[in-house]
Amino acid sequence: MKVAVVMGGASPEHDVSLASGKGIVKAVELLGHTAIPLVIDAEGNWLDGQHEAIEILQACDVTIPALHGEGGEDGSLQGFLEQLHIPYVGSGIAASAVGLDKHLTKAVLKAHGIPVTPGVTLRGAELTDTEAALQKLKVAGLDFPLFVKPANGGSSFGVTRATNLPTLLAAIAEATAFGPQVLVEQEMVGREIDLAVLEFPDGRVETAPALEIHPDPEQPFFNATAKYDSSATRFVVPARIDPELAIRLRRTAIDVFEVLGCEGLARVDFFVPPDGEPVVNEINTFPGFTPASQFPRMWAAAGMSYAEVVDTLIRTAVE
Ligand code: DAL
Ligand code: MG
Repeated sequence: MKVAVVMGGASPEHDVSLASGKGIVKAVELLGHTAIPLVIDAEGNWLDGQHEAIEILQACDVTIPALHGEGGEDGSLQGFLEQLHIPYVGSGIAASAVGLDKHLTKAVLKAHGIPVTPGVTLRGAELTDTEAALQKLKVAGLDFPLFVKPANGGSSFGVTRATNLPTLLAAIAEATAFGPQVLVEQEMVGREIDLAVLEFPDGRVETAPALEIHPDPEQPFFNATAKYDSSATRFVVPARIDPELAIRLRRTAIDVFEVLGCEGLARVDFFVPPDGEPVVNEINTFPGFTPASQFPRMWAAAGMSYAEVVDTLIRTAVE
């Protein structure tokens, strides 16, 4: 098979995507296929030129959109591939778009009774009108410490912990630089646990053993530095959780996948308070996919190698 692997992209997660793409290319070759890497630069342009890229994509049997964040994980590339009748790995337009938008993800999950991190979305005048913003937070019962994040995006870029009014206002200004909607969420005290969801060619949807994140204690939270530049961040997989919690997380992760209409793969990230119900923090419809990333690490704990996971993704997409 000829497999196109698209990587890079105009989002702040450009470099992470290049690392994910590189790992996937290696695995595709290992599986005996021909991998064709296609890079989108940081300005959002195809390195080979758009016309040439389209010809390459159309000559391939399947495309793996190994992109994170806006322009790649948000349904836009998926729409582009649909227009060209090119089969691709992972979620379609709607699930990708909703999954990358933390405001919409919350709205859809809440409507289905799936617990999410308490929070509100600020937009328009609320981003600069302090009174209006504070009123909204008050009505929602939110209090410091808070987390402020762009509604669209990943890898914790633009995310800040706010402990008082000045840090809140600075955090909102920072998140606004990433997009027109800003989420303000209650800080969740508890464990941070990820679930990996994979769809098999026969339509079965499975989860791997859960993974717990122990962020670098020097960082204020599992931020971009803790994610990519710190050796002190530790992943524990399988997470040490009791069987009841494992079943609950597994069921919720699959519910999230199905409610959002995901396909192929997703990573569902939870907060688990010490005594209280787990809440969904976010979903990634194309999670980090370097050999050190959570998603392949969780499947390794289920006995599947990185290449076997890539093989499953390809077979599910073309079946
Ligand atoms: N958005 C980053 C790549 C992740 O899901 O890990
Ligand atoms: Mg993310």
